[in-house]
Amino acid sequence: MTEAGHPDAIDREMVRYYAARADEYDDWYRRRGRYSHGQEDDAAWRSDLEAAASWLSARRFRGEIVELAAGTGWWSPALARQGQLILCDAASEPLEKARARLAAAGFTAEFRVCDAWSEPDRPVDGLFAGFWVSHIDRARLGEFFGLVARWLVPDGLFAFIDSRQDPGSGARNHRPPVDDVQVRRLDDGSSFLVRKVFYEPAVLASALERAGFSDIEVVTTDRFFVLGSARRGSPSPARNGSREARRSRARNG
Ligand SMILES: C[S@@+](CC[C@H](N)C(=O)[O-])C[C@H]1O[C@@H](n2cnc3c(N)ncnc32)[C@H](O)[C@@H]1O
Repeated sequence: MTEAGHPDAIDREMVRYYAARADEYDDWYRRRGRYSHGQEDDAAWRSDLEAAASWLSARRFRGEIVELAAGTGWWSPALARQGQLILCDAASEPLEKARARLAAAGFTAEFRVCDAWSEPDRPVDGLFAGFWVSHIDRARLGEFFGLVARWLVPDGLFAFIDSRQDPGSGARNHRPPVDDVQVRRLDDGSSFLVRKVFYEPAVLASALERAGFSDIEVVTTDRFFVLGSARRGSPSPARNGSREARRSRARNG
C-alpha cells in the first residue's frame, strides 16, 4: 500500500501471486519439492513448526477471532478450536482451501474476501495474522498495529506468526529479498514480486508498544519463526490521521 492507503503495484501483485499459488502453497509448510532443503534443515523446520503450533494453541483466544490474510488456513483449525473464527483474505483461491481444511476438521467459520487494510466493521475479541506482518512496508507497520487495535475490544488478544530470515526457509530457487522486495516463483516458472520484510523482534515489540498494546511478548523459534502476542490497552485507539486525531493535533497546536 502507498502512504495514501491505496494499493501499490507490489500489493496488487502479491494478491495475484497468492491466488496463483493456492494449490502449491502448503508445499512450503510440508517441505515438498522446491521447499525441501535436505534432511537436517527439513527436520529443523518441522520442529520449529511444531513449536509455533504449540505456542498458538497455548494463546488464550476466545469469543470472535478475526484471521487477517488467512490464506489456505494452515493455522485456522487451531484458532477455530479457541473461538468463533472469521477468515479474511484478498484472494478467494486460498480461502477456498481454508474452507475445505476447516470443514474437514469439523469447524464452521465465516469467510470474507477482503483487504487486510479495511477498517473493522465491529470490534472482536481476538485477531491473528500468519505471515502477513512481513508483507507490510516498514513505513506502515505502526499504522497496521493501530488498525489491529481498532479491531479489538479492550484487552482483546492479538497474535502473529511470521518469518525469520533463514536460507532453509523458502524455495530453493528463491533468492533473499533486496530492499524488502523478493522475486517469488511458482512451479510453472512464472515469477512475481512480493514485499518481504524480516522484522527484528525488538522492532515489532516497540511498534506494538507505541500502538498502545500491553502484555507484549515477541519470541522466536530456533531458526525460522517469530511469534508475537499482545493485548489491546483500554483507552480507545484513535485512527491515524482520522478527523479525531487531526482535531486533537489542531487543538494542541
Ligand atoms: C504468506 S500468505 C499467509 C497465509 C496464511 N496466513 C498463513 O499463515 O499460511 C499471505 C496471504 O495474504 C493474502 N493477501 C495479500 N494481500 C492482501 C491484502 N491486501 N489483504 C488481505 N489479504 C492479502 C494473500 O492472498 C495470502 O493468502
